[in-house]
Amino acid sequence: MLPTIEWQGDAVVMIDQRKLPATEVYVSCKTAAEVAKAIKTMVIRGAPAIGVAAAMGIAMGMRRSTATGTKQFTTEFQKTCDMMAATRPTAVNLFWAIEKMKHVFAEAAQGGCSVDEIKQRLEAEARRIHDEDVESCRTMGAHGATLVPQDARILTHCNAGALATAGYGTALGVIRAAAEQGKKVAVLADETRPFLQGARLTAWELVKDGIDTTVITDNMAGSMMRLGNVDLVVVGADRIAANGDVANKIGTYGVAVLAKEHNIPFYVAAPISTVDLHTPDGSSIPIEERNDKEVTHVGSSRLTPEGAHIRNPAFDVTPHKYVTAIITERGIARAPYDESLAALVNDAAVKA
Ligand code: MRU
Repeated sequence: MLPTIEWQGDAVVMIDQRKLPATEVYVSCKTAAEVAKAIKTMVIRGAPAIGVAAAMGIAMGMRRSTATGTKQFTTEFQKTCDMMAATRPTAVNLFWAIEKMKHVFAEAAQGGCSVDEIKQRLEAEARRIHDEDVESCRTMGAHGATLVPQDARILTHCNAGALATAGYGTALGVIRAAAEQGKKVAVLADETRPFLQGARLTAWELVKDGIDTTVITDNMAGSMMRLGNVDLVVVGADRIAANGDVANKIGTYGVAVLAKEHNIPFYVAAPISTVDLHTPDGSSIPIEERNDKEVTHVGSSRLTPEGAHIRNPAFDVTPHKYVTAIITERGIARAPYDESLAALVNDAAVKA
């Protein structure tokens, strides 16, 4: 399986997702600021992977601190957390991971740990967040595979795969688990304008795994559904509000509306760390607006005339009424989501 991100000696190393599939190159980050930049510039992307990268970046940044007393060390820690939090606003996993690191820091500091001991605990927590992410994806995949028919044509949007997590993937984890169980799966991967995560990353991962993959441009999804070529949709999420509204890559909303029109199940696969019970509904989810250049250019070629206004919201919100079920590592939530999600977050055993 692909190593999306890993420690290598004193560096955090990640595959450069901006360059895939043309070249497989790795970016080695030696400071927390380099990790923050890698998140912001999409060297690493995908909600769970962003959270993992932030935790590893914080641990690495603090490992390098030369502070001798806890006072200075605490100030540096706070600054490092603030820098990570300012990278990307929509994926709640980022803030979830930062909170986890803050909790470990506070517990260690209050328990009278030395600076060196706090450094070790932060690193252990970052490693745990990494390893638990892969484990969650596998469990989520097993739950999700129960929803996949023996012979299934599955449409997905963006990349919610191994590259978007510490490994295995959420939506692609469901697809992988179904394939591992011997189900016959064929995937339609939406291209996903403007950053092309579907065409570049989802297709790359699935082809490497030997899974039947067809790339379509985003505007083909409706027609594919109408022609009867899609049995189910599964996508990831950047943040799921308490009422089940889902923020995910721009274009997901359109796919969900089309799926409902054609009576096709629309599933969302995401770890519990993506569920944000503090956000009551989709209207309070912050949506990142990215650089115009992602829309105006493909590589170095300009597509649009100078003078045209450009919009580039990176995510949209799919109201919960379009969501057939939400697949997590703790089980499958169905409507009413305010009840089922709260039960899962509070670790009650809710099953499909
Ligand atoms: O802008 P990106 O590439 O970070 O957006 C990624 C997505 O929207 C994914 O679908 C989502 O983060 C889930 S990844 C398991």
